[in-house]
Amino acid sequence: MLLRMRDVSKNLGPERILQGISCALDRGQSLAIVAPSGVGKSTLLSIAGLLLVPSAGDVVIDDRETACQDDNERSHLRATKIGFLFQHTQLIGSLRAIENVIVPARFAPTATQKLSKIEIAERAKKSLTALGLEDRLYHYPHQLSVGQKRRVATARALFLCPALIIADEPTNDLDDANAHTVVEALFRRVRSGDAGLLFATHEKRLAKQADTILYL
Ligand SMILES: Nc1ncnc2c1ncn2[C@@H]1O[C@H](COP(=O)(O)OP(=O)(O)OP(=O)(O)O)[C@@H](O)[C@H]1O
Ligand SMILES: [Mg+2]
Repeated sequence: MLLRMRDVSKNLGPERILQGISCALDRGQSLAIVAPSGVGKSTLLSIAGLLLVPSAGDVVIDDRETACQDDNERSHLRATKIGFLFQHTQLIGSLRAIENVIVPARFAPTATQKLSKIEIAERAKKSLTALGLEDRLYHYPHQLSVGQKRRVATARALFLCPALIIADEPTNDLDDANAHTVVEALFRRVRSGDAGLLFATHEKRLAKQADTILYL
């Protein structure tokens, strides 16, 4: 199984944010998380993406139990298996768009070891171009609109062709045409059976595209 969460709960401060959440996702499948603002969608995605440790319950990524893993093991699993599109994009301000897209390769060097630097740059250019950003390759995040930043972050999340794609409100701040482009990019590798997609959204139309919807 690509992702399995069993009875996951999370306390943040004195509050219990998530309680007893279970779900499963395999390659070729998509799962939408739908809930009102503040209920815990981003928290749940962070736990699935091994960025947060649950207070109880466990998370399995590609058949590996993560509960007993140390930070290095979790980081390795995250870098090699997971592409994360953050709700607030989290681009690195000191890097140009194309350099931001390539960042995942730094953390998973074996994934691109057969590619030259030029080939890596070409791959990043191609993905940014596919997202309509061919004239923004060398802009810094502060020179980009919010929707452009989201598209750069999408290219970064997909750069290493991760088995598990996690996207937190991927269509926020995008017009219909760009939302469609981003959603297509996220679903393409799900349809080919190479990846599973876990995403959070407020948009009913987008949620309905998923095989399964989990309401929190
Ligand atoms: N570090 C933290 N310490 C304490 N509480 C937190 C922390 N981070 C988040 N929370 C609380 O956890 C709850 C869930 O937050 P989360 O960001 O997961 O919600 P969400 O469903 O993604 O909301 P939105 O749709 O607005 O993005 C919120 O009530 C928030 O205030
Ligand atoms: Mg959120």
